Amino acid sequence: MNFNAISLSQLPALLCAMPKTELHIHIEGSLEPELIFELAKRNQVRLNYPSVDALRSAYAFTDLQSFLDIYYAGASVLQHPQDFYDMAWAYFLRAKADNVVHAEIFFDPQTHTERKVSMRTVISGLHQACVDANEKLGMTSSLIMCFLRHLSEESALETLEQSIPFKDLLIGVGLDSSERGHPPEKFERVFKRAQQLGLRAVAHAGEEGPPAYIWSALDVLRIERIDHGVQAIHDAVLLQRLAKERVPLTVCPLSNLKLCVFSELKQHNLGQMLEQGLCVTVNSDDPAYFGGYINENFLQTFAALNLNASHAYQLACNSFEAAFVDASQKQAWRTQLDACFQTYGA
Ligand code: ADE
Ligand code: ZN
Repeated sequence: MNFNAISLSQLPALLCAMPKTELHIHIEGSLEPELIFELAKRNQVRLNYPSVDALRSAYAFTDLQSFLDIYYAGASVLQHPQDFYDMAWAYFLRAKADNVVHAEIFFDPQTHTERKVSMRTVISGLHQACVDANEKLGMTSSLIMCFLRHLSEESALETLEQSIPFKDLLIGVGLDSSERGHPPEKFERVFKRAQQLGLRAVAHAGEEGPPAYIWSALDVLRIERIDHGVQAIHDAVLLQRLAKERVPLTVCPLSNLKLCVFSELKQHNLGQMLEQGLCVTVNSDDPAYFGGYINENFLQTFAALNLNASHAYQLACNSFEAAFVDASQKQAWRTQLDACFQTYGA
């Protein structure tokens, strides 16, 4: 591939056009303020904000917790399968427009079951949207059920048991919510049981928390991908291991910026980690809250870090490598990617 043939002026269009997977998207974080208001009206839920604009202007975060408080409040409008369907369908339309070929979607059942919304309600709505995305948009997807780490091990174990009737509709489990003070070790038994049930495993680690949480996500939880992982930069031995084992890191630059993990996008370490041979990918995390879907993450990060077409190619390849799909599917996406780059003269 001749990356030098692609000029800087072509790069934004190429970033948007290239096929890519999205592996770090919380579906509740794709709930746009307009849809929050529509669902609140439909379900007669009272919101603490008088208007869409007032809600959107509350999206000024200082850290992860300040975001999570508002994110869990937003999710309270979701009550029926149709609500979960509408939220996921809106995401699929956005992802399709960004040339996402495959999405692995996080959801937080405890946010809903704690409000007496059943696991069946949550999963049936989300699953139907996945089926329709495949049939109508030609996009594949799978669901990853996340445990809220600020809640107890017991609650996570119970959540896992409740999901067993729907196990075949899930690809894996994850771990999210408030990181500091809730190390991966707290969920060792939950992850062991999930893996015995045949589920894949990922975990948020090293978003705000220390590199030690990345080590224990790998060695105690035996996860296959790290969500975020940007704090690995402070541990040279860990960086070497991540590079050597090609452990994927699902990085979310605009999220890191909005949650003040980096003070400016120019300070982000995605480029450094890519240059050091880590399997980093670009993702949107909670796009309705952080100012952009996946292509916006690519565009702003490339501009801030002066990345080029070769980086774009590597990031797309990484996004295929890191997906929970078989090798023939990855090869098919790679062929699509090469064809795309060729139309830009590479
Ligand atoms: N839940 C939704 N977004 C999250 C994030 N960025 N970190 C941890 N938990 C989350
Ligand atoms: Zn996340």
